[in-house]
Amino acid sequence: MRAPVRILTGITTSGTPHLGNYAGAIRPAVAASRQPGTESFYFLADYHALIKVQDPARVQRSTLEIAATWLACGLDPDRVGFYRQSDIPEITELTWFLTCVAGKGLLNRAHAYKAAVDANTASSDDADAGVTAGLYMYPVLMAADILAFKAQKVPVGRDQVQHIEMARDFAARFNHTYGEHLVLPEAVIEEQVATLPGLDGRKMSKSYDNTIPLFAGPAELKRLVASIVTDSRAPGEAKDPDASHLFTLYRAFADETQAAAMHAALRGGLAWGEAKQALFELLDGQLAPLRERYEGLMAKPADIEATLQAGAAKARAIATPLLRELRAAVGLRPLTTPVIVHGEGSENVNASGKGATSRLPTFKQYRENDGRFYFKLVHADGRVLVQSEGHASPKDAGALIARLKADGAALVHDAGRVLRLADAVVGRLEESVELAEVLASLAVFAEAD
Ligand code: TYM
Repeated sequence: MRAPVRILTGITTSGTPHLGNYAGAIRPAVAASRQPGTESFYFLADYHALIKVQDPARVQRSTLEIAATWLACGLDPDRVGFYRQSDIPEITELTWFLTCVAGKGLLNRAHAYKAAVDANTASSDDADAGVTAGLYMYPVLMAADILAFKAQKVPVGRDQVQHIEMARDFAARFNHTYGEHLVLPEAVIEEQVATLPGLDGRKMSKSYDNTIPLFAGPAELKRLVASIVTDSRAPGEAKDPDASHLFTLYRAFADETQAAAMHAALRGGLAWGEAKQALFELLDGQLAPLRERYEGLMAKPADIEATLQAGAAKARAIATPLLRELRAAVGLRPLTTPVIVHGEGSENVNASGKGATSRLPTFKQYRENDGRFYFKLVHADGRVLVQSEGHASPKDAGALIARLKADGAALVHDAGRVLRLADAVVGRLEESVELAEVLASLAVFAEAD
C-alpha cells in the first residue's frame, strides 16, 4: 500500500478571512482533505500574524475567526490535523536550524521584504526603515511550518509560490549538509483562482483594503459587490469579460455553464449593474449556509480551543520525533553519543567528500525468500553489525527491535557469536564486529527516547 500524500497549508491570523483566502486556499484544501490517499495538516499561522499585527486583541480575534471559518467551510478535524502554529514549539526550533542554512541573499529577494525596501528607496528613506527582522525571516518560519511535517503538497494562492520555492531551497541545503532528513514540498495552485482580484482589481488582500469578507452579511455583501470597479461601458454596449475582474470573481464561484452564460451575456451588452446583481446572488447562495455555521461556531470559542488542542497533539506526534532526529543530526546531542569520523573528514563528509552520509545507526527490516522477517543493525558508517534470526511476522521482529532499543545494554553473546537479550535469541554478531560497537550503537537509540 502506498503511503498517503501529506498536504499542508496555513492562513495568517492577521485579519478577517476573505474570498481570496477561501477560493485560493480553504476551498481546495478542504476538497483535498476528502480525497482518499491523503493526510492533511491545516493550521492558523499566528506567529506569522505578529509580523504584521501588534494588536494582541486583533490577533486573538482573527485566530478565532479563521478557525471558525475552516470548520464552517467543511473541514473535519477528526480527519485532518487542525492546529495553531504557536502550539507547536518544534516549528520555532526548526526555524532556527533553517536560519543557519538559509542564504541571506535569497531572503533579500523575498517579495514582501523587497516591496518594503523598494517603497523606502522610492521615498528616499533608509532601505530598511521600518523593516523588522520578523518580516525578513518570514519565509524561513514558513519553511519550518511545512518541513516540520514533511509535507509534500501545499495548496496556496500564487502569492505564496515564491515562499514554497524557498522552503525547497532551505530543505535541500539542510539535506546537503546533514543528510536526507527533510522532504522537498511542492505548491499546488488552482489556475482559475490563483490570484483572486479585490474590489479595485488588484489582488484581493488585507494589505490593500480591497477585500470582500467571506462572511459579510447579505446587505454588506451586496454593497461591496456593487462597489467593484468596472469600466464605463453603458448597458447594451458589448463588454470584454476577459478584461473584467468582476467576471474573474464570478468565474471563481460559478460552474462551467454559469460562467459561459455570463461570458456571453457580457459580450452581448449585459449592464454592469445586472452582472453585479448576478454575482451577489451567486455568492450569497453559496456562502449563506456556511455563514450560518460560522455564526454558530463563533459563539463557542471553548469548543474551538479544545479542537485546536487535540489537533496540536496530533501534529506534534509528527513534529516531535522529526525534531529529535534533526537535533541529533546537527550535533545537538548527548555527549555520550559516539562521534563518527570518516577517514580524514568529519561525519558530514561522505566518500566523495561532498554532502552527508547517514550518521546514525539504523535497523533495516526485510523479508527473505523463506517467508520469514529479519532485521539488521547497521552501524552509522554503513557496516552491518548484527544479523537477526528469522521471525514469523514483522510485528515480532519489530517487538525485538524495540526491546533492543530500550534495553540493548543487557545484550550478551556466547562463544559462537550468538547474541541474546534475556530469554530471546537476537541473532549473530557479524565477523570482526566487537560487542562494544553494538552496544555503543544501541545506546544512541536509548538516548534518543
Ligand atoms: P495569507 O494568510 O496571506 O493567505 C492565506 C491563503 O490565501 C491565499 N490568498 C489568495 N489566493 C488567491 N487570491 C487571493 N487574492 C488571495 N489572497 C490570499 C494565499 O495564497 C494563501 O494560500 N504565509 C501565508 C500563511 C502561511 C502558510 C504557511 C501557507 C504560513 N505558513 C505554510 C502555506 C504553508 C500567508 O500569509 O497567507
